[in-house]
Amino acid sequence: MYLTRRETFNAAHRLFRPEYTDEQNFEIFGKCSNPNWHGHNYTLYVTVKGDVNPKTGMVVNLKTLSKIIKELVIEKVDHKNLNTEVDFMKGKMASTEMICLAIWDVLERPIREMGAQLHCVRLEETENNFVEFFG
Ligand code: NI
Repeated sequence: MYLTRRETFNAAHRLFRPEYTDEQNFEIFGKCSNPNWHGHNYTLYVTVKGDVNPKTGMVVNLKTLSKIIKELVIEKVDHKNLNTEVDFMKGKMASTEMICLAIWDVLERPIREMGAQLHCVRLEETENNFVEFFG
């Protein structure tokens, strides 16, 4: 059984390589290279996989899952600058792909310790652009 929890956050970022000029960065990263930052409203879907516990009728307790996602991810990124303020994004490109990978790394173990398996992290940067990682 697959169970998905949805969370939202908004955060600022900039996609750029410091060794490139602003023009070169714009050429590669487009509007996301704006030197004065900009924000996105992100939507995060965390899907876990496991058997339905016959006693509880649940794969995992959604309240616990939500608490883990909020504490380990949302509280760290919401209303923050992904380039400069988020510990698990230090030294990484603040692209949707890299944020998604970092969130996987943060959540994989705690979800395993809940008795389930992390199946997919889906991160939507806009309603048209999203990534999915299956480990
Ligand atoms: Ni952007």
